[in-house]
Amino acid sequence: MSGTTAPFARSDARRIAEAFLPPHPFGNRFDYYYVRGKVGSDPLYPGVLAALRGCDAPLLDLGCGLGLLAHALRHDAHPLDYVGVDNDPAKIARARRAAEKRGFEGVRFEVMDLARGLPAHRGSVAILDVLQYLDSDAQRALLANAAAMLTPGARLVIRSAIDDDSGRARTSRTTDRMAQWIGWMQFRPRSWPTLDRLRAPLEAAGLQVESAPLYGNTPFNNWLIVAQRG
Ligand SMILES: C[S@@+](CC[C@H](N)C(=O)[O-])C[C@H]1O[C@@H](n2cnc3c(N)ncnc32)[C@H](O)[C@@H]1O
Repeated sequence: MSGTTAPFARSDARRIAEAFLPPHPFGNRFDYYYVRGKVGSDPLYPGVLAALRGCDAPLLDLGCGLGLLAHALRHDAHPLDYVGVDNDPAKIARARRAAEKRGFEGVRFEVMDLARGLPAHRGSVAILDVLQYLDSDAQRALLANAAAMLTPGARLVIRSAIDDDSGRARTSRTTDRMAQWIGWMQFRPRSWPTLDRLRAPLEAAGLQVESAPLYGNTPFNNWLIVAQRG
């Protein structure tokens, strides 16, 4: 695992963002500019693609937001089946629209609250920038349940802001709170995991766990954690 993964090239970010253009020329372009900026600046998606390389198990994306991971996978010609779930119905509606616009096959989205339950799934699991919206008990339960979904060769890929004493961790906490104040996130952040708290339930489930920073040129304390059966 590398902490120096680069984001998508600007031209690739623009191409992915075009799926989020409004149907009318004067429609709301917020998602388009958000996606273009996010995909072109954050090494998240190339980092996750690298972690999933060589693995063709179906992927469950927990807290999928606009479903950008599905766009990154298809952009990378990764054909695996994808299901994204999120508790924000408006984001799921926009995720469905953009995936339909692209004509993606094997991509599905559902509204679901991770604090209440999980869909039945066997394969790989992604949990990207979501854990802080659950309290620590719900995080532990989610990680144990996600670990139990892994089939041989499948991966559990997590990105999370890690709670430590760094200035980066403070920036992550402040930005997550602001995302709710400005209305981008419907729910308030509850708990940022430490690296040990994140690894413990995975190791207890018998998984091999690797972790490395994945923040690129962003100011946040984001780490990538990849777990699989030994
Ligand atoms: C920072 S966004 C990350 C989106 C996506 N994983 C990505 O990286 O592009 C966090 C997402 O988690 C979702 N979320 C927060 N709490 C949730 C819950 N209890 N159940 C399902 N989704 C949740 C939010 O609606 C939001 O879309």
